[in-house]
Amino acid sequence: MVLDGRLCYGGDYNPEQWPAEVWEQDVELMRQARVTLVTVGVFAWSRLEPAPGRYTFDWLDRVLDLLHAGGIRVALATPTASPPPWFSLAHPDALPVTADGVRLHHGSRDTYCAAAPAYRAAARRITGLLAERYADHPALALWHVHNEYGTTCHCHHAEAGFRRWLRDRYRDLDALNDAWTTSFWSQHHSDWAQVSTPRATQYLPNPGQVLDFRRYWSDELLAAYVEQRDLLRAATPAVPVTTNYVLGDWVPVDHARWAAEVDLVAIDHYPSDAGPAAEEQIALAADLARGWARHGARHQPCAGDDDLPGTRGSWLLMESAPNLIYTAGRMHTREPGRMTRHSLAYVARGSRGAMFFQWRAPRGGAELFHSALVPHAGPDSRIFREAVELGGILDRLAEVDAGVVEAPVAIAWDAASGWALQQRALPSDRIHHHTEVAVAHRTLRRAGYACDPVLPGDPLTGYALLVLPALYLADDDTAAWVRDYVHGGGHVVISYLSGVADEHARIRLGGYPGAYRDVLGVRVEEFHPLADGEEVPLTGGGTARFWAETVRVAGAEPVDAYAAGVLAGQPAVTRHRYGDGVAWYVSTRPDEGTYQRLLDEAARAAGAAPTCLDAPPGVEAVRRRSPEASWLFLLNHTASAQRVPTAGIDLLTGAVVEDAVTLPIGGVAVVRERAGA
Ligand code: GLA
Repeated sequence: MVLDGRLCYGGDYNPEQWPAEVWEQDVELMRQARVTLVTVGVFAWSRLEPAPGRYTFDWLDRVLDLLHAGGIRVALATPTASPPPWFSLAHPDALPVTADGVRLHHGSRDTYCAAAPAYRAAARRITGLLAERYADHPALALWHVHNEYGTTCHCHHAEAGFRRWLRDRYRDLDALNDAWTTSFWSQHHSDWAQVSTPRATQYLPNPGQVLDFRRYWSDELLAAYVEQRDLLRAATPAVPVTTNYVLGDWVPVDHARWAAEVDLVAIDHYPSDAGPAAEEQIALAADLARGWARHGARHQPCAGDDDLPGTRGSWLLMESAPNLIYTAGRMHTREPGRMTRHSLAYVARGSRGAMFFQWRAPRGGAELFHSALVPHAGPDSRIFREAVELGGILDRLAEVDAGVVEAPVAIAWDAASGWALQQRALPSDRIHHHTEVAVAHRTLRRAGYACDPVLPGDPLTGYALLVLPALYLADDDTAAWVRDYVHGGGHVVISYLSGVADEHARIRLGGYPGAYRDVLGVRVEEFHPLADGEEVPLTGGGTARFWAETVRVAGAEPVDAYAAGVLAGQPAVTRHRYGDGVAWYVSTRPDEGTYQRLLDEAARAAGAAPTCLDAPPGVEAVRRRSPEASWLFLLNHTASAQRVPTAGIDLLTGAVVEDAVTLPIGGVAVVRERAGA
């Protein structure tokens, strides 16, 4: 969203935690920092409705007026992620139940069952009131529904919802029994009333049931979102509606499928690492968000944004941490400059700005040490000074919002494959689809290639190379999608544990990977999961880790082979011409250098080129292009100054770049490239 031509910059603002005098200071500080947008009201339900049916909107009226007077736009949140205590006491059946049957109590947040009718009705009520009251407020730029949908529940409402969802999907019980392979361990259901959520049970649960439970929750939560969105849309058809996605393997939300229902994909992102892995995580999260955003069905312009030319995969970083980040056992302080560099890394990859959790650090409450743009120390602080600097930088970068990120490589990503590979009793608990996507993504990033995450079935026109990292599930359409792409001249790299199972997580028989044997010209007979730390040398000089397989070639040529152990002499990597294209199979996780050389070779052979051939290692280069201009983002993540050949104008400094920019340690340049450069 461009707010009157500006990028989004600001964060969660919680005036309900502060006396009114602080609000005026806040607006003044926001103006100093050139904040353009704040998210208000995320957890304010008990301050808006302190007792059932008693509403106190006056303070919110004043806050919105103050913000408007200060020229700051508002993403107005519905407060439904944290119902007040009175609600749970009045509706104990709407409190969530865990898999082991424990009913949780209010006292934190997100303590509701999103399938409980009373919760849904209360959420609609408060949303409808907000919509009615603030529909015409001039500060309103965006509706922010709820916060980080991601809860599940096993109560009787959830169970009834799950059964309804299953009846819709399978129609009759035989189909369900078949999909879940209930002939195994005497789990055959003879009546729908026997079908339950996957509660705590004696030993391993049914994998089909667990997978469908995740799918059900994604749809149930989406329905809860859509109910609120429709109320908001009815009141303000011109104001876009979004919700902030939370990322993580525990989240039962298929974010790509949700994209069709939000007007702007928005993510919250908190890297779990304090070192260079943070930058890899940022690049991946940003690319995923862009990939999801391209699945948006409705892309109306945002308020004050009449010229937005369609979707282009733009999205918004709704939350990030200005300073301290949570890492295992301690919070880690970001060194000076990192907040700016990281914020620009998201913008480089298509974010329409940089938003933070949170504006002002709270005095108390569960997250009292979470970082903020205005820290406990107040505005006379490094963080606030950096916030002011970042506001100035984002102001100078508004034009990049017109650019689309260019990527010659597609990486397949699929929520359900991720969920299926989280199950227990798989051959290795080290192999997860999302981890494998992350490894392939970071390897391609190191080799300088930009990637777009795609979903099975997405159009692949324009991509020179498709990578399938442990894309475990494949229905027949997915198998045909890959086959047709390669047959038509596409190049694909498929890794172990791809296409092994169907959409119900049942094995595709006859040799792995059942869905892609013909395209790959191989047949895998056996898996050889490797132990932690175990390495098997490859004849090409690298090493195999985590996983190995007995690969029989059936038309493919071996490219690399296992050099020791039971698989000595057998292929580890193969290549197969299929139709007009080429299919590579990688049956192990090679060491980083070997994997990088392999992906680089596959990409070059496919005709893909790195974004910036001259960028030194550790300098991230991302290009956004519009019909009129192109912008090269260069981010120096290394510990020394770096020189990168390029020509144009550096938007950060306004300086003309004749033939190269020199980036200081941690420095960033955003060069509007000279035409033809
Ligand atoms: C999430 C939530 C915020 C806050 C942050 C802390 O993203 O949306 O309310 O809890 O995490 O990192």
